Amino acid sequence: MKIAILGGTGSIGEGFALRWALNNEIIIGSRTLKKAQNAAQSYLSEMKSYGFDISGVRIRGTDNYIAAAEADIVILTVMFNHVFSMLESVYDTLENKILVTPVVPMNKVGDYFVYSPPPQGSAALAIKEAVPASTRVVSVYHNIAACKLKDMKCQVEYDAVICSDDEDARKILFDLTHEIGCLRPLDGGPLAVSNMVESITPLLLNLGVLNGLEDVGVRFC
Ligand SMILES: NC(=O)c1ccc[n+]([C@@H]2O[C@H](COP(=O)([O-])OP(=O)(O)OC[C@H]3O[C@@H](n4cnc5c(N)ncnc54)[C@H](OP(=O)(O)O)[C@@H]3O)[C@@H](O)[C@H]2O)c1
Repeated sequence: MKIAILGGTGSIGEGFALRWALNNEIIIGSRTLKKAQNAAQSYLSEMKSYGFDISGVRIRGTDNYIAAAEADIVILTVMFNHVFSMLESVYDTLENKILVTPVVPMNKVGDYFVYSPPPQGSAALAIKEAVPASTRVVSVYHNIAACKLKDMKCQVEYDAVICSDDEDARKILFDLTHEIGCLRPLDGGPLAVSNMVESITPLLLNLGVLNGLEDVGVRFC
C-alpha cells in the first residue's frame, strides 16, 4: 500500500509512519516540502535507532497535494480546525480513495477538554460531506496517544475502534491496524456513530490530568 500522511510532520503522523513503514510505502505530506523531507529522513533514522534494517524501507516527504495524489490510502493528521482547508486543497486527489480520519474536534473549557463536534454530529460525518462521493471514509485511531504510537517498544495493546460505511475499507483498516502491533482493531459500526468514539478522547485527556496518568488509552474487555 502507498499511504499518504497529510500533516505527517506532526505528533501522531510520526507514529503512523514508523509503524507502517515496514510493510508499506509512506509518503509524508506537509505544507512545506523541506519540512516533509526532513521529517521523512528523521523517521528513517528513528527506525534505524530501533534496530530495523532500513535498506528496503520507503519513507519520503513531499507537499500534501502530491502525497495525496500518489497514495492509495490517505490519513488526515491535522487538527480539526485545519481539516476543511486541507480537504479543499486536495479534493480531486481523493476520488476513489480511502480517507482515514483520527480527527477529534475538541476544546479546552477551563481546566477540562470537551468534545466539540460540528453540526453534522462528528468530525467523520463533516469530513464525509467535504470529500468526493467516491471517497471511502474510515474513522479510527482517535483514542491512541501519539507517544505510545511512536514508541516502537510499546507492548501494551490498546483498542482501535473502526467506524465506516464501506466493508472493504473497514477490512483494509483492520489489516493495517494489526500491522501497527500495539493496537487491536474493533468494529465500531457505521460512520454515523463515530461521535461516540471521537468523544472518548477528551475523557482520556481529562483522566490523565486528574489522575496523574500519561498517554491514557482504552482496552475494552
Ligand atoms: N496527538 C495525539 O496524541 C492524537 C491522538 C489521536 C488523534 N489525534 C488527532 O490527529 C490529528 C493530528 O494531531 P497532532 O497532534 O499530530 O497535530 P499537530 O502535531 O499539532 O499538527 C500536525 C500537522 O498539522 C500541520 N498543520 C498545522 N497547521 C496547519 C494548517 N493551518 N493547515 C494545514 N496543516 C497544518 C503541520 O504540518 P506542516 O507544518 O508540516 O504542514 C503539523 O505538523 C488531530 O486531528 C488530532 O485530534 C491526535
